[in-house]
Amino acid sequence: MSRAVEAPWWAVRYEAMAGIDPVFAGVVDTAAEAQVDLVQRLLDLVDSDRIVDVGCGGGRHSILLQERGFDVTGVDLSPRLLRLARENWESRNQGRKGPTWMPGDMRWLPASGPFDAALLLDHTFGVFEDDGDHLRTLTGIIDQLRADGRVVCELLNPYYWAHHNVTRHHPPGSLADDMDVVRTYRFDAQRGRVEDRVTVMGRGQRYELPVQSLRCWTPVEIVSLFKAAGFRRVTVHGSEGWDVPEEPLPVHPEESVFLWAVAEL
Ligand SMILES: C[S@@+](CC[C@H](N)C(=O)[O-])C[C@H]1O[C@@H](n2cnc3c(N)ncnc32)[C@H](O)[C@@H]1O
Repeated sequence: MSRAVEAPWWAVRYEAMAGIDPVFAGVVDTAAEAQVDLVQRLLDLVDSDRIVDVGCGGGRHSILLQERGFDVTGVDLSPRLLRLARENWESRNQGRKGPTWMPGDMRWLPASGPFDAALLLDHTFGVFEDDGDHLRTLTGIIDQLRADGRVVCELLNPYYWAHHNVTRHHPPGSLADDMDVVRTYRFDAQRGRVEDRVTVMGRGQRYELPVQSLRCWTPVEIVSLFKAAGFRRVTVHGSEGWDVPEEPLPVHPEESVFLWAVAEL
């Protein structure tokens, strides 16, 4: 008798989030605009550059970049999220040629390069338990980049998370239409990971989504990881609280909730 193989949390959690949070369903919002503005600045993109958006989800960054004239490929594990991405593009750009959407695991990126740049946005990097898988993801990306290719990667800042237990309540209408959503974030110092629990309540129901558990690296550690993969130059910037900065900022241990790593070959 064969035993059922349980799907890892990251193959389930983001599709479930898309059901309660428009951001995960790929709706283009002002935060996505700010992220794309920063990406353009950090990567010095020029017209018609080829970009791969790794873990593109519902496609909000891929869509914006394609609309701005770049040639984008969005890769994601979830065919369901890629379907949403395609619909999101169509609803904004009826009939125009959109990004190329490809299903695939980031550790074995579908061969569709060479690209000028790769994106790992919104903590798409850090899902794996084993750092070997993170390293494999980066070397696989390098194989799909041109000789002067660049990567931008948005991460959680462990210095911030080590000192902040965060609980956020989203009342009905702010995320899910008629449900309360509570998110709690806790830092697991032993494993260097932020665990994010989501509880949904309402309509006589209460359920929890699979826990998101993201690996965090200090700036020095993330530079080492990117260099071990083969990148020559890596710089790390911070955020202003939860907001996307307009310009690259130094990492502030208490104020930067997120890190932005930029790696060049
Ligand atoms: C936090 S969401 C970010 C989505 C998108 N980058 C955004 O900012 O809207 C993480 C995405 O990574 C995808 N993902 C998770 N594990 C993956 C894997 N092993 N290979 C490819 N995609 C993966 C998920 O399906 C999800 O769409």
